[in-house]
Formats: sequence, C-alpha cells, structure tokens
Amino acid sequence: MIIDSREIKVTTSKEQMPEHLQGSALQQESRSAHTKKFYIESYGCQMNFNDSEIVASILSSMDYGNTRDIEEADLILVNTCSIREKAEETVRKRLRYYESIKRKKPHVKIGVLGCMAERMKKSLLEEVEIVDLVVGPDAYRDLPALIPAVEGGEKGINVFLSRTETYDDIMPVRLDDNGVCAFISIMRGCDNMCTFCVVPFTRGRERSRDPYSILAEADDLFQKGYRDVTLLGQNVDSYKWTNPETGETVNFAQLLVMVAGVHPQLRVRFSTSHPKDITDEVLYAIRDHENICKYIHLPLQAGSSRILKLMNRTYDRPWYEAKVRRIYEIIPDCAISSDMMVGFCTETEEEHRETLEVMQQARFSMAYMFAYSERPGTPAQKRLTDDVPPEVKKRRLQEVIRLQNQISYAHNRADIGKVFEVLIEGDSRRSERDFKGRTSQNKVVNFPKKEGLQKGDYVRVRILDATSASLRGEIV
Ligand code: SAH
Ligand code: SF4
Ligand code: F3S
Repeated sequence: MIIDSREIKVTTSKEQMPEHLQGSALQQESRSAHTKKFYIESYGCQMNFNDSEIVASILSSMDYGNTRDIEEADLILVNTCSIREKAEETVRKRLRYYESIKRKKPHVKIGVLGCMAERMKKSLLEEVEIVDLVVGPDAYRDLPALIPAVEGGEKGINVFLSRTETYDDIMPVRLDDNGVCAFISIMRGCDNMCTFCVVPFTRGRERSRDPYSILAEADDLFQKGYRDVTLLGQNVDSYKWTNPETGETVNFAQLLVMVAGVHPQLRVRFSTSHPKDITDEVLYAIRDHENICKYIHLPLQAGSSRILKLMNRTYDRPWYEAKVRRIYEIIPDCAISSDMMVGFCTETEEEHRETLEVMQQARFSMAYMFAYSERPGTPAQKRLTDDVPPEVKKRRLQEVIRLQNQISYAHNRADIGKVFEVLIEGDSRRSERDFKGRTSQNKVVNFPKKEGLQKGDYVRVRILDATSASLRGEIV
C-alpha cells in the first residue's frame, strides 16, 4: 500500500488557528486554574519527546493542566513512533491498557499523536475503537479546535503535513527533565529517502526553523538554569535558513556558533549528523568553541558499499571511513557514536563482516544497533525483498552488539587517568552520595559529591574506573 501523507487534504491551516495561537507571541500562557487534566506519554526519538513538550505548551493555553498520573487524566495522549514494527506494537499494547482505563471512566478521551498517527491516518480510528483523536506531527496547532469537538463526542483527525511548520513561536513546556539539559528542535522532516525509513512519510519535507527563535529559546533556557542544549533534527547538517525578506542565510555551522555565543557556560550538542552532509566548517566550529561538545552521532547503518547503495544512503564505505578520519584529524579528542542496522535486504555474511570492520576502524564510543524491520510504504518495502531470515538477523545483531561492547569498553578504559570537565546533571542513579554528569564527549561519569556543589555546576573530574557504559571518577 502506498501511503503518501503529502496527498492528504488540508483540514486546518495556521491561518485558521484561534487568534491567541497565531503570530509570534505564544508562550507558556498557562491558565491559572485548569479544570481538566491531560496525560502524555512519548515513544520514539528525541524529536518526538520535544514535540510532546510543544503539545503540552499548546494544551496549557487551553483548559488543560498536565498530570503525571494517568488515573486522574481526562485526556490521554500517546505520541507514537513507527520506525520499527516493534515500536508500533508497543503503542498498540499501551492502547489496550488505555482501553481498560476508559472502561472504568467512559468520559476519558484518547488521542494518538506523532508518526504512527501520520502513517495510519483514518485507519487508526477505524481499527482501534477507543481512539477519539488522531493528530500528525505538523498539526498540533489544531488541537485547540479538535479537542472541543472530541469532547462533544466526535472523532477528530488532522494529519496534514506542512512544508513550513516549525512551531518556532511556541516555547515548549519542559516535561520530565532535570532542569539542566534540554532539547531544541531546529528543523523538521527529512528529504533523504533512505529506502528503509518511514520518517520522510511520517514527518514530511525538510524545513529549517528561524535561527533567531532558536537563539531566543536557548537564551531563555540558560536564564532558567539549563546548561546543556541539544539541537535536534533528522539531518542537522543540512540545516539552512534563508530570511525571506533580506536573503540572509544561516547554515548549520553558523547556527552552532550562534548558539554557542549565548553563553560560554552553555554546552551545545546536536543530533543527528548525516555522513554525506557534515562539513569541515562544522568540524572547525566544534574545534574552535570550547562549549560546542566534542561528540558527533554519525550513523553508519552498514559497512558494505553495495548495501549502502541499496539503502540510498548516498555515501559508500570509503567515504564514511574518510569522514571519520577527518573528524579525528581536526578534533583528535572527539567521540563518535553511531547507528547500525543489520540484515537489510540481500545482505550477505561477507557484507555483514564489513560492518564489523568499519566499526572497529571507526572506534565508536557507543552505538544504537537494530535489526532491519520492513516498514509499509517505504521504497525498500516496494522494491526490495526482506530476505534475511529473522534468526540470521538476530545472530548478526548479537555480533554487532558484542563487538560494540568491547569497543565501548576499550574506549572508556582509555579515559582512566584523564581529567575531564563534567557538567553535574543530578544524583547518580545508584547512590544519593554520588553525582552524575557528562563529559563533552557525552560519556556519563559518576563521582562522590562535594559540599557546595549542585546540578548545573561544572567540575573537573579525574577518571579512576570504567565499564562499557560509564565512567567513575573523583573531583580534582
Ligand atoms: N535521521 C537519522 C536516523 C533516524 S532513525 C539518520 O539518518 O541517521 C534512527 C535509526 O533507526 C536509524 O539510524 C536506523 O539505524 C534505524 N532505523 C531506521 N529505520 C529502520 C528500519 N526500518 N528498521 C530498523 N532500523 C531502522
Ligand atoms: Fe530516515 Fe534517512 Fe532521513 Fe534519517 S536521513 S530520517 S534514516 S530517511
Ligand atoms: Fe520514530 Fe517518528 Fe522519531 S518514526 S524515530 S518518532 S521521527
């Protein structure tokens, strides 16, 4: 089945929005006395979590206050992911749980947001009876119009994908955060069309957000005590903004430098980089600015040039390896992490070995690893055969994971004896007597607390020990 969200008709446009949601002034205009409560749960990537914060901001301008207790919610929202079949199964399981709540309290409304809403559209309302509301990633401004209709007993849907929506005027309401680290979406959508990937269908065309609204958000976060911001996009290196009036342009390297200029004490991170788009200009920006973190997430996917071509990644193995060499050459202390996907259509044993080889050469500090999961409507589903048997995928995945564990372990052990500047993020998970923080290279460090220090402070920590997952040290 072909699912092209771009063909769906506009049900609501920005211009039709209620007046208080238009223009540049929408902030967390929270009403003092919310009479109803919403509960929101998020799955998938950081962009989805950040979108939930935008949704929370929009809802708080209505009659809805946020609750973390699902039992007291009048509106249950789930922000969904479609990236792999398992991600969708998780959501279906949650929907069955919400059904049990709705049985007890029939007035409760259930809304599905995000990528699965976009992928399944109306069929979600048909297939899952308890769902009242389906809203795609670009249609959240329509919630104040949709929710009253849903409260009135109708079903609500808006899965319009926009070419321009960036929610740049909405200040997210931070949910579940530590008050130190925050995410800022700098672009939406993706134009890359990797053949395995559902994102271009669920998130639409790539568009970049006004850099001055990004700076305003970063500045606001800094004033509120945040010290670490991650600029988010599916492919941040292709960020490009043009001022429609003056023709002024800002590329990703320039944006990084602008955000780093907010304050020397504000750390700037970014994710995700596409190997084909990351430029020397970006690498020099990282090298030359102390507060731009020396950490790059650079998904490899596969080591074989033939598989990369089938995936339409537009780089081959030598290109990827040269990119990694260039990063270490310009920023010797940079950490590189990656995504690997095993068992893509027609992948042979030898091609799988190539993934292992590249991993070893690249020395990733950590990685996210997956078995290929065919997604409906993607080019791979339409044109290629998902012919690697599940048990072979499973074994290859285990091999990739085992190797990465060894590489991560060696990478972390190599830090023993070194001193890093660590930003304290809060208590360590294991013990209240320890702090947890991160290095510029994005490694978690646990270390004993010291009087007078608190989260948001920077300390110098000497590394004493390491596992494949984290470092342990002491303040110097
Ligand atoms: N924009 C990012 C990736 C976003 S999705 C990039 O281009 O790198 C995050 C990761 O999920 C991908 O890097 C890929 O490794 C994995 N992934 C995407 N589609 C998948 C699929 N159909 N099956 C398994 N893993 C997938
Ligand atoms: Fe998907 Fe490729 Fe876009 Fe990443 S770059 S979101 S993998 S299409
Ligand atoms: Fe999932 Fe959508 Fe993100 S499919 S990974 S939530 S962009």
